[in-house]
Amino acid sequence: MKLNFQTKPEVQMRSTAIDFYEQVKTRRSVRKFKSDPVPDEIIENCLLAAGTAPNGANLQPWHFCVIKSPEVKSKLRAAAELHEHKFYNGGVPKEWTDTIKHLNTNESKPFLEEAPALIAIFQKATTKDHEGIERKCYYAKESVGIATGILITALHQSGLATLTHTPSPMNFLNKVLDRPSSEKPFLLLIVGYPTDDCEVPDIVKHGIESIRTYH
Ligand SMILES: Cc1cc2nc3c(=O)[nH]c(=O)nc-3n(C[C@H](O)[C@H](O)[C@H](O)COP(=O)(O)O)c2cc1C
Repeated sequence: MKLNFQTKPEVQMRSTAIDFYEQVKTRRSVRKFKSDPVPDEIIENCLLAAGTAPNGANLQPWHFCVIKSPEVKSKLRAAAELHEHKFYNGGVPKEWTDTIKHLNTNESKPFLEEAPALIAIFQKATTKDHEGIERKCYYAKESVGIATGILITALHQSGLATLTHTPSPMNFLNKVLDRPSSEKPFLLLIVGYPTDDCEVPDIVKHGIESIRTYH
């Protein structure tokens, strides 16, 4: 089929690129959420956006579980806090906990119950291709990473805050959410609105000179 590509005047390209950067740089990982509900339609559209991601052989190796049930959220919190207790109490090398010290995080994860929605993202080992043949997914991790980046950006652009959460290990997600063992938990996205008193760590992003070279 013919590509539908909209060429923009250069002046518009420049302002769109600047506007996009100005928008995405206001995204921050939020760890204190209001319980106000989020419209399903917004989440669905953001998931559709994530599903447009480029991916290995178009096998689309992702599955998204949207969790709103208080019972399921509380199961996830209990399991995550159990693992996080081990994580923060000698379960991982000190080098790792030293690296995240500035975030002031600990084993307590109230946002897993307080936030209105969680999205558990799974990476599939195989999926059916366009002919219905079960195929091994290549570059699955890269593909799911790109889709997740689009999802986080879409949610942010829609006015929602997120936290990228990776309780370690995450296998409990398969059990609680009844996903097959062939699906690897990729990460857990917490979605909602920040509390009015929400604070974030004062961090700095690298400037352009240190993240790119021209060749
Ligand atoms: C793959 C990945 C895993 C992360 N896991 C956690 C986590 O388990 N808990 C947490 O509080 N933050 C987690 N974060 C959030 C990072 O700490 C955060 O993105 C980073 O400090 C930069 O801050 P910013 O998102 O506000 O720009 C994770 C981020 C990524 C990309």
